Amino acid sequence: MCGIVGYIGPKEKKEILLDGLQELEYRGYDSAGIAIIEGKKLHNFKAIGKLKNLREKTKNYTSEGFGISIGHTRWATHGKPTELNAHPHLGAYSYVVHNGIIENYQELKEELQAEGVNFLSQTDTETIVHLFEKYHNRSNDAFPAFKETIERLEGAYGILLITEAAPDMIFFAKNGSPMLIGFDNEDVYFASSDTPLIGKAKEVYYLEDGEYGYVKDGQVHLFNKNEEIGFTKQTLTADKALAQKDGYRFFMEKEIYEQSRVMGETMMGRVLDDGIALDELDKDFFEDINAIKICACGTSYHSALTSAYLFERIAKIRCDIEIASEFRYKEPLLTGDTLFITISQSGETADTLEALKMAKRAGLKSLSICNVDNSSIVRESDAAILTRAGIEKGVASTKAFATQTMVLWMLALYVGQERNSISSDILRQEIDAMLHTPKALIVTDKLHAKLHRLSKRYLHGHGFFFIGRDIFFPLALEGALKLKEISYLHAEGYPAGEMKHGPIALADSELFTIALMPKTMHYDKIKSNVEELSARDATICAISPEPFDLADDFVQTQYSSHPMVEFFEMMVVTQLLALEISIRLGNDVDMPRNLAKSVTVE
Ligand code: G6P
Repeated sequence: MCGIVGYIGPKEKKEILLDGLQELEYRGYDSAGIAIIEGKKLHNFKAIGKLKNLREKTKNYTSEGFGISIGHTRWATHGKPTELNAHPHLGAYSYVVHNGIIENYQELKEELQAEGVNFLSQTDTETIVHLFEKYHNRSNDAFPAFKETIERLEGAYGILLITEAAPDMIFFAKNGSPMLIGFDNEDVYFASSDTPLIGKAKEVYYLEDGEYGYVKDGQVHLFNKNEEIGFTKQTLTADKALAQKDGYRFFMEKEIYEQSRVMGETMMGRVLDDGIALDELDKDFFEDINAIKICACGTSYHSALTSAYLFERIAKIRCDIEIASEFRYKEPLLTGDTLFITISQSGETADTLEALKMAKRAGLKSLSICNVDNSSIVRESDAAILTRAGIEKGVASTKAFATQTMVLWMLALYVGQERNSISSDILRQEIDAMLHTPKALIVTDKLHAKLHRLSKRYLHGHGFFFIGRDIFFPLALEGALKLKEISYLHAEGYPAGEMKHGPIALADSELFTIALMPKTMHYDKIKSNVEELSARDATICAISPEPFDLADDFVQTQYSSHPMVEFFEMMVVTQLLALEISIRLGNDVDMPRNLAKSVTVE
């Protein structure tokens, strides 16, 4: 979703901004822009669509000497993705970029309009720059004007503002949207996540909610409420382990192939011969905990759903799952003996973060399972287990889902082990199955070629049903989500046993059923559900180790002794199917239309 970069110093600014925005590109956006002030010279470029359009527009421009600069990738919320709505937004002599949503912007806009201010865009952001100039015109003092502006804003924001009135300063504020400051001697950088700063800044400071301030002469002046406060920088990794496609056509494809390797990293030091070690958790972490509640969105929600079966079956602990955006407004009953778990690839999803804050306010102990260290969700939680999937760039999440599910499986065993609700024999069997997972995730040439061939038969029709039972039901949901995200075809995940309660009415030869038919779990039950669909002429693509006569298409998986191993192998099949269908349809696999990798607004 929206991304912010900023830089103050003597270096060439256009490339710093464009490179930074490029690093944020994978998060999803539909327009981009930069603004640079060098002394009395103002430069502003905006373009809709991909960054290459902005590069094209700026190709004859290079900044010179000391200056201040800000850049932004926008994912439209208020107003269409047009150039006028793209950031930076201009007042008479100042520019602003903003992530988040200003909830009282309508009221502020009306106030400013009544005073004669003319608005060019439909965005909430534009109110910030006009408000700033209103206060600045009165006081002729930029920082107090900025402070007064911030005090009027309600909602979530990460803001950078530059003004011709103070051409040696950048103003910043953070509340609810991530923002960090990067330092390299006298050069100061800003970004909404650390990736644009790797290789540029040596140290960073992650701003906390409510903090704001300005940079001048290479010094950051940081404030909270009315006080200037100190802060401690931390070292930023210099290892620019930036995700490159490495010969794959798409990041998503590369990330599917990486799953086998990263799973080893997820387990490293945690899955031991005779037990699970989670150094992230204090020895007494589960003392007084009698239930688990998990909140998440999107793919992360599907890994949570999978884990509910494992927590209850293996660890014998009650486990409820909630979609974060629903949880926030349902006035949930929360009891102190519940551990509140959030799952998030990015660690920045607005709804998940707010759900976590709610649970904390209710006094619950919190744990996050996340792929990004130092993200807002990790920092907000009492404890965090990192998934170690590495940077995931494809908007359609793959390796993040696999590693989240693995961490949750480990956690279920850990809880069982700590509460003595699992026998050492079962624990060893589970661990043995875990260790087989990396093998189950290997993408063979044969398998990929098979899915490539099959995909041509699934480019039309009036919809897909992915069906499964037990843990294969959340996997069906995830398979359907992958397909719809990148193919734009209608797909639903359904519990196989539920098809006869409605959806079977849709069955005909143009209804495609992707049937997850593991041999280790309820095989006969799901077989009869699929037979019912086949009898109504639905087209069946069965994924199973066991050949199935009624299947129109059949993808054979390995026989295994454990459902989770079958789960991971089938997960790869559904990911490859979605990938190949999307490629055949000519879609942008890594940046599908309308989607954002990290959803930082409600
Ligand atoms: C967006 C992404 C999804 C992701 C969801 C939750 O919708 O496109 O891939 O599953 O957000 O994100 P999180 O970072 O919290 O896992």
